[in-house]
Amino acid sequence: MRFSLLAVNALLAYTAMAEAEVDASNKVERPQFEEYKAKDAVFFEQFVPETASRWKASNAIKAGSDGEFSYVGKWEIEEPTVFPGFQGDKGLVVKSPAAHHAISALLDEPFDNKGKTLVLQYEVKLQESLECGGAYIKLLSENEDLHNKEFSNETPYQVMFGPDKCGSTNKVHFIIRRKNPITGEYEEKHLKNPAPARLNKSTNLYTLIIEENQDFEVRINGKVVRAGNLLDEGAFSPSINPPKEIDDPNDTKPEDWVDDVYIPDPKQATKPEDWDEDQPMKIPDPEATKPADWDEDAPEYIPDPDAEVPEDWDEEEDGEFVAPEIPNPECELHGCGPWKAPLVPNPKYKGKWSQPQVPNPDYIGAWSPKKIPNPDYFEDATPSDLEPIGGLGFEVWTMQKNILFDNIYLGHSIEEAEAIGNFTFIPKLAIEQKQENAKIKEVKTEKKQKIYESMLDHFREDPVDFVTELYKVFMINVNADPISFLREQPVIFIGCVLAFLTASALGMGLLSVVVFLLKSLFASPPTKEQKEKKEALDKKIQEFSAKSSSTATETAPTKRSKTAE
Ligand SMILES: *[C@@H]1O[C@H](CO)[C@@H](O)[C@H](O)[C@H]1NC(C)=O
Ligand SMILES: *[C@@H]1O[C@H](CO)[C@@H](O)[C@H](O)[C@H]1NC(C)=O
Ligand SMILES: *[C@@H]1O[C@H](CO)[C@@H](O)[C@H](O)[C@H]1NC(C)=O
Repeated sequence: MRFSLLAVNALLAYTAMAEAEVDASNKVERPQFEEYKAKDAVFFEQFVPETASRWKASNAIKAGSDGEFSYVGKWEIEEPTVFPGFQGDKGLVVKSPAAHHAISALLDEPFDNKGKTLVLQYEVKLQESLECGGAYIKLLSENEDLHNKEFSNETPYQVMFGPDKCGSTNKVHFIIRRKNPITGEYEEKHLKNPAPARLNKSTNLYTLIIEENQDFEVRINGKVVRAGNLLDEGAFSPSINPPKEIDDPNDTKPEDWVDDVYIPDPKQATKPEDWDEDQPMKIPDPEATKPADWDEDAPEYIPDPDAEVPEDWDEEEDGEFVAPEIPNPECELHGCGPWKAPLVPNPKYKGKWSQPQVPNPDYIGAWSPKKIPNPDYFEDATPSDLEPIGGLGFEVWTMQKNILFDNIYLGHSIEEAEAIGNFTFIPKLAIEQKQENAKIKEVKTEKKQKIYESMLDHFREDPVDFVTELYKVFMINVNADPISFLREQPVIFIGCVLAFLTASALGMGLLSVVVFLLKSLFASPPTKEQKEKKEALDKKIQEFSAKSSSTATETAPTKRSKTAE
């Protein structure tokens, strides 16, 4: 009767604690989305109704190197569902897993970057992270086809920028496409050492800046992750400017050119007579002698003298009992059994013979073709002067869906891009991070609740055993290292002491023991927020304790007189 009363009280206390935890962990405030009014943008896209309709998904069918494919991937303009930021903040979302997606938007007028700074910035939110897929953007070359043909991987572009991940490859592409005026061919110049993309589920902001002095910067979340100059040697592959000289394709290695550095020694063409290939690597040590006390007759193993015939041994069924063998204890004092000399390296061992190598007296050197001026050489002194850009597009293949793009800026102003980041990205990330933290806390709370529940079950089934077990845990910790137990877990330590003191002194309040222990066992170092919550909880628990102690006092005398007997 008394125990069940306590159990009910404990359950109430536990429920109050669990509820308080859950209340604190959900409900992150999400302010309403507000449009940013860009002052200095050639193109700015927040996927609000007035502008979102300019995006046209492609239905092109393409014969690619890996077979024919069509852009069947669906696009949607919608709010994110994973750690969503502002309420009502929509983005452009890749909707089909394992599909080719292409979508583009045209500029009102071609974007001309000659003698200017180019700033391209956009947000990427990988709601399902990214195992394999692209999330890059392309600045499309202005030409007739751009306006007449469906967008595809063959649509010429000027710049490609953004995340691309598959397996161990993970990079933020920066590719600039430049025409060789002599050959008329375009080449894709890749930044050689691209930064890795951010793969987590919150919004990440990617910025590319190309200045008119050819300096470039790649920023992620406002921090510069790559910087250099387009004309830096070795920064791009292939280099922005072709080499001045190339190998003469008509120059071939003369037939009599000797480029072997070493040759087999002609003076030692055969194996020396005294070279014995059959000698073993190791031989018994010829100097070793058998120790005087070595007993060749003593066995190395003997039947275990302590072995007993098992009780259920049946000679008829199991045969005669044979004791298991153990190492002969006598052999610990001296050697037993046949003596063998230990093995030592064989001085006569030479191994397999092979003809020695000597420097080649006819060696001329490594051959390389003559250099001739590169007929395709030209100097592109201002690669930042891109060809006119007529649109922007995403043309990606991805295994993961729900990649969200937002706040796409193209213009000439670094300051404007930063201001956009300050207005959209930074507060959005703060909301997402709060949600992420709340989620982590929620998972922890769920785990904690499960433990509470199983402890409560234990308590209901066998309260005495439960308290005994907790007492044991306490004693083990105290005995093992009381100082560090007190230092690292002061709450548990003091909680236990108080609980046991209270329980034994008053002969009541198994509840107080339970509540103290439940509370203290799972307490992690409290944050400020937790502290406040804790105070509120303590109050609640005190109320419960007060209630139960009045119940306990009524029943306690019976219990006490019983123990006294
Ligand atoms: C993603 O990474 C950024 C910075 O690298 C961090 O601020 C953010 O909290 C991370 N988000 C998640 C969901 O891990
Ligand atoms: C190589 O030889 C061919 C044939 O003689 C000639 O047409 C070509 O211009 C030569 N190439 C170079 C790079 O000199
Ligand atoms: C963006 O915010 C940072 C930090 O508050 C500030 O230093 C910077 O001036 C802001 N930039 C713009 C363009 O508003």
